[in-house]
Amino acid sequence: MEFSIKAGTPEKLRSGCIAVGVIDARKLTPAAAALDKAAKGYLTEILRRGDLDAKAGATLALHNVPGTACERVLLVSLGKEAELSDKDFRGAIGATAKALAAGGAKDAVICFADHPVTGRDARWNARQAAMLLADSTYRYDATKSKKDENRRGPAKVTLLVGEKTDLAAARNGMAQGQALAGGMALTKELGNLPANICTPTYLAQQAKALGKSQKLKVDVLDRAQMEKLGMGSLLSVAAGSAQPPKLIIMKYEGAAKKGARPVVLVGKGITFDTGGISIKPAAEMDEMKYDMCGAASVFGTLKAVATMGLPLNVIGIVPATENMPGGRATKPGDIVTSMSGQTIEILNTDAEGRLILCDALTYAERFNPDCVIDIATLTGACIIALGAIPSGLMANDDDLAAELLARGQESGDRAWQLPLWDDYQDMLKSNFADMPNIGSKGAGTITAACFLARFTGKYKWAHLDIAGTAWKSGGEKGATGRPVPLLTQFLLGRAKAA
Ligand code: BES
Ligand code: MN
Ligand code: ZN
Repeated sequence: MEFSIKAGTPEKLRSGCIAVGVIDARKLTPAAAALDKAAKGYLTEILRRGDLDAKAGATLALHNVPGTACERVLLVSLGKEAELSDKDFRGAIGATAKALAAGGAKDAVICFADHPVTGRDARWNARQAAMLLADSTYRYDATKSKKDENRRGPAKVTLLVGEKTDLAAARNGMAQGQALAGGMALTKELGNLPANICTPTYLAQQAKALGKSQKLKVDVLDRAQMEKLGMGSLLSVAAGSAQPPKLIIMKYEGAAKKGARPVVLVGKGITFDTGGISIKPAAEMDEMKYDMCGAASVFGTLKAVATMGLPLNVIGIVPATENMPGGRATKPGDIVTSMSGQTIEILNTDAEGRLILCDALTYAERFNPDCVIDIATLTGACIIALGAIPSGLMANDDDLAAELLARGQESGDRAWQLPLWDDYQDMLKSNFADMPNIGSKGAGTITAACFLARFTGKYKWAHLDIAGTAWKSGGEKGATGRPVPLLTQFLLGRAKAA
C-alpha cells in the first residue's frame, strides 16, 4: 500500500473510493459536506433514510454519486460525539480498511483521518491511520503453494487533511505509521513461520539480512562462544535440541552523540517450546512455535526504528534455542551455573524462558545500557491474569514503568503493571542452589519476573510478558505484531527527548 498526503477538499478528486466521516448517523464532516454540496444533497438524502448506523465503524458504500469525480463514496460512522476516542478512531479506520479490501477500488482517499481525537494531534492521527491501514494488508503465504488471492485493499491511499497547517506533522506521522507497520509485518512473519523453518539458525540469518538492509551491526555467538562466557543457564535449555543455539546481537546506532547510552531490548527466542522433559500436553502445542515472538518483536522494532532513522542507540539481544526433550536434555533437579555466577536448580524444564533470558540480561551489562526492556511469551499465568488485552509489565524502576504504560496508551498497544514487591522473592527458594527456576504456588507471572530481577540489579529494567498478546488462537490464528507499536512509541518518545 502506497501512501500520500494532501490538503484540501475531496469533491474534484478522481479516485476509486473517497471515504468521508459522518457523526451521529446524520451530521456531515467538512469533507462529507463538500461532496454533498457537489452532489446537490444526495448524501444528506440517503442519511435521512437512516441507512448508516450511528455506531463508530459502521460503513455504507455508495456508487455513482452525482456531481463527483470518484467511482465510489464510502460513508464511515464516527460515533455520536464531535470528538472521537482513541478506540473509536481506530475502529473507524479499521472498518474503512475492511470495506476497502472488500471493494474493488484501486486507489482511495480517506478524508476523516484528521478528525479530532480527544487529547491527540495531527501527527498521532496520521501515524495511527497509516499504521492500521498498512498493517491490514499483511497476509501470511510463505508456506502455501498458492499465494492468497484475496484482495488486500487499494494499492494507493491518500490521506486528505482539511488544514494546510497540519500537513507537515501529518506527513511525518504517516511515515512513522508506515515504518511501524513494516516492523510489525516482520514480527508477524517470523512468528507465523513454522519451527522447522524458523530455527535459531534461521533467526540468525534473518538478523544478518536485516543488518544489511537497515545498516545494523550484527553479531551472532555460537555454542562455543556462549560456553566461554559461562552461559550455563541458556545452554542448559539448548541441551536437548539438535538445532544449535544462537545469541544474536543487533546494534542500531542513530544517536547524534557517539557513545550515547543505548536502550537494550532483549527478546525471548524459543523457536519451539515442547516443555522439555517436563513435557507439555499435546493440545495446541503447535502454538509454541510462537514462543519466539519476544525475539520477533525485537527484530520488528529495530526495523521500524531504523526505517524512521531515530536519533538513538538501540541494541537488540536475542537468545535463540529450541526447548526439546532428548537423551542430552536437562532433567528436573539438575543444577546449572548462570553467567552471573548464580546457581539455578531447574525444577521444571518448561520454565525455560527465564533460563535463556537471565544469561542474555547479564550479557546486556556490557553495553552500559540506559535501560533494558525484555520481551517474552513467559507465562501462561499472564493469560489467566490479563487475557489478550494488555501485556503484563513489571519493572525495577517506577519511572520506566510509568513511561511504558503511557506509551502503551498512546500507541494503542497497552500494558498493565503487576507488582514486583520483594515479598514475592520469598517464593523462590531452593535447598540445593541459589534459586529454583519456578516459584511456589500462585503469582506465576510475578515470580517469573522476580527470577529475572535477580539478574538485572545493575541497570533500570522492565519486563513485558506478552504470552497473551503476541498471537491469536483459533480461527484467526496468527501473530499480532505486538508489542512493536508500544516499543516503537517508547523509542519515539526517547528520540524526542534526546
Ligand atoms: N512459553 C511458555 C508460556 C506460555 C504458555 C505462553 C502458553 C503462552 C501460552 C513458558 O515457557 C512456559 O511453559 N511457562 C510455564 C511456567 C511454569 C512451568 C512455571 C507456564 O506458564 O506454565
Ligand atoms: Mn515453557
Ligand atoms: Zn516458553
